[in-house]
Amino acid sequence: MVLIDGKKTSAEIKDEIKKDVAKMIDNDIAAPHLAAVLVGADPASQTYVTAKEKACQNVGITSTIYRYSENTTEEELLKVVDFLNNDPELDGFIVQLPLPKHIDEQKIIEAINPEKDVDGFHPMNVGRMALGLDCFLPATPNGIMEMLKRYNIPTSGKNCVVIGRSHIVGSPMSILMSQKTEPGNATVTLCHSRTENLKDIIAQADIVIAAIGSPHFVTADMVKEGATVIDVGIHRVKSDKTKSGFRLIGDVDFDEVSKKAAHITPVPGGVGPMTIASLLLNTLKSAKQKR
Ligand code: GUN
Repeated sequence: MVLIDGKKTSAEIKDEIKKDVAKMIDNDIAAPHLAAVLVGADPASQTYVTAKEKACQNVGITSTIYRYSENTTEEELLKVVDFLNNDPELDGFIVQLPLPKHIDEQKIIEAINPEKDVDGFHPMNVGRMALGLDCFLPATPNGIMEMLKRYNIPTSGKNCVVIGRSHIVGSPMSILMSQKTEPGNATVTLCHSRTENLKDIIAQADIVIAAIGSPHFVTADMVKEGATVIDVGIHRVKSDKTKSGFRLIGDVDFDEVSKKAAHITPVPGGVGPMTIASLLLNTLKSAKQKR
């Protein structure tokens, strides 16, 4: 079994970004600038945004976090988006999801200037991605594609089963894996909560991408011997084995599935760090396009 080390791979990518940013600064070109908007106090969102800020600092990308209370109205948030759209110093920004229930997420996403939408969530970027045109690719699917590429995992003609159809991961992942690209060219099945015979479908998979949001959903009995297993899930569960009393687990039962898989991503240290590296890549791309 080969462990797909997202921490190591993302460190390599961040090193490449750091060199590119240093070159820009040497040439008197302003460093890329990313902003993140955080509304409310969702603990997972706070952790993600802090991790993104730290990653920016490590590669020389300027970062700004805009924090707003849980009670921020949709109208106020739309004004923030408008302000960031028009900030000439800013190359890209993200609005961390989920947003409080009283705010229409889609309305906010559609208000973002597609040229600054480094999350790749705006319909313009989603549409361009679906057509295989140049765009900002969503960070998690792009991070997974990058891992498959760097680990030379064959995808062409292979059965790829994506579990979960979210707009952020499952749906774009299925599109990217089916495209005429390398990695890509896979025969893709997108499974979800209504899928019948899910176990039979997963059993056929050469590549399983688990993005269902359910702890240890994928068990060893479901997976084909020699499969590649990518775990997008991240769940904080109680544990009496750690000092904090908690540990992070994925959508895949790693201990058991790793005995059957040829390649597998761990949680933590798999897809998560790659998502951040992809966001930095998009920010760098935006800065290069603008300068
Ligand atoms: N929430 C979970 N993942 C993401 C992401 O990639 N971007 C944003 N903006 N919010 C998220």
